[in-house]
Amino acid sequence: MHTPTERVRRAKRSRIRTMFDLAEAQPPERDLVRLEVGEPDFDTPEHVIDAAADAARAGATHYTSNAGLPACREAISDTLAREYGVRHGADEVLVTVGGMEALLLAVLSTVGPGEELVVPGPTWPNYETQAALADADFVEVPMPAETGYDLDADRVIEELGPETGAVVLTTPSNPTGRVFDPEECRAVVEAAADCGAYVIADEVYLGLTYDGDARGIAAETGHPDHVLTVGSCSKTYAMTGWRLGWLAGDPHVLDEATKVRESTTACASSVAQHAAIAALTGPQEPVREMRRAFERRRDLVVERIDAIDGLSAPRPEGAFYAFLDPAGVEDDMAFARTLLEDHGVVLAPGSGFGETGRGKLRLSFANSAERLREGFDRIERALGER
Ligand SMILES: Cc1ncc(COP(=O)(O)O)c(C=O)c1O
Repeated sequence: MHTPTERVRRAKRSRIRTMFDLAEAQPPERDLVRLEVGEPDFDTPEHVIDAAADAARAGATHYTSNAGLPACREAISDTLAREYGVRHGADEVLVTVGGMEALLLAVLSTVGPGEELVVPGPTWPNYETQAALADADFVEVPMPAETGYDLDADRVIEELGPETGAVVLTTPSNPTGRVFDPEECRAVVEAAADCGAYVIADEVYLGLTYDGDARGIAAETGHPDHVLTVGSCSKTYAMTGWRLGWLAGDPHVLDEATKVRESTTACASSVAQHAAIAALTGPQEPVREMRRAFERRRDLVVERIDAIDGLSAPRPEGAFYAFLDPAGVEDDMAFARTLLEDHGVVLAPGSGFGETGRGKLRLSFANSAERLREGFDRIERALGER
């Protein structure tokens, strides 16, 4: 009998999922405040659903080309230029099954066995698994808590060398909500380019910033050819279940990635591609409305954190996460369990976001103001009882 391969055994189970599963296993009558989940609580805008249903009825139910429908690639190319200053022709866009597939394809195409995938921490956990699947080494570079985990380019650059395949920069960040300083991003891209490495810009939250619009990393650098831009309809358009994202950048990498995906997913769902065209080219008011709602919740979250003794967090500038530092907590997993079991509030343990996250907790504010208030009341009680 063959054992599972080393590369699949190296993949870690998500600690966010562990909390999700523990919460699901609670008796149904328990009134839990669920703040562990990383997806918008809004429904997909109506006109997007109509467009998808119309397309399906009109026969758009077949495979598309590997790279995606030309109209969908065009819509993504236009959106990247209009919203984020990132200029790639439609032929430099691959439509993917969520940002997730785009990231995996980018990692597989740029980081070879034994090479390194370098990521500032705290970090979304999936990159580590993707490095394992590429038989590559994962290098987490801790960012300074004192500056709210802003990108410190010098720390990243120190880790770069001939063994570096790619660096992932996630802005706005999951789990901290930080929007990275463009100057620091530019410095990392330049250093990566000098090593012949790529920067994978994970910008799935770029449509959700609250203190001014952000531009894509590729727009900020003299080496856009060394930046692979990952985006998605999931968060900005409340479309997580449609599984529609993109990878844009260097046509040589895209060519290889397009070839590989014939053997993985073949193409993104045809119906979802029609939904994405409607989302990207149709009325943007529903998106603006959702962003305003997230911003109001962000303000509420900041206000509550400031008012609770022994609790602090960097001010979230984008996405819908606050990375809480509960003073004196060392075992964040144990504390997350206590919060769930004794107080009925569910958060993601910080150690699920790499070593840098140890002792912290991620709170998702993709929930109503009323539930957020209740969640903070419970967190405050739990901290008071320690
Ligand atoms: C940082 C980050 N990147 C990428 C993704 C991928 O999202 P999707 O595949 O839904 O586009 C997520 C989802 O949670 C995320 O948090």
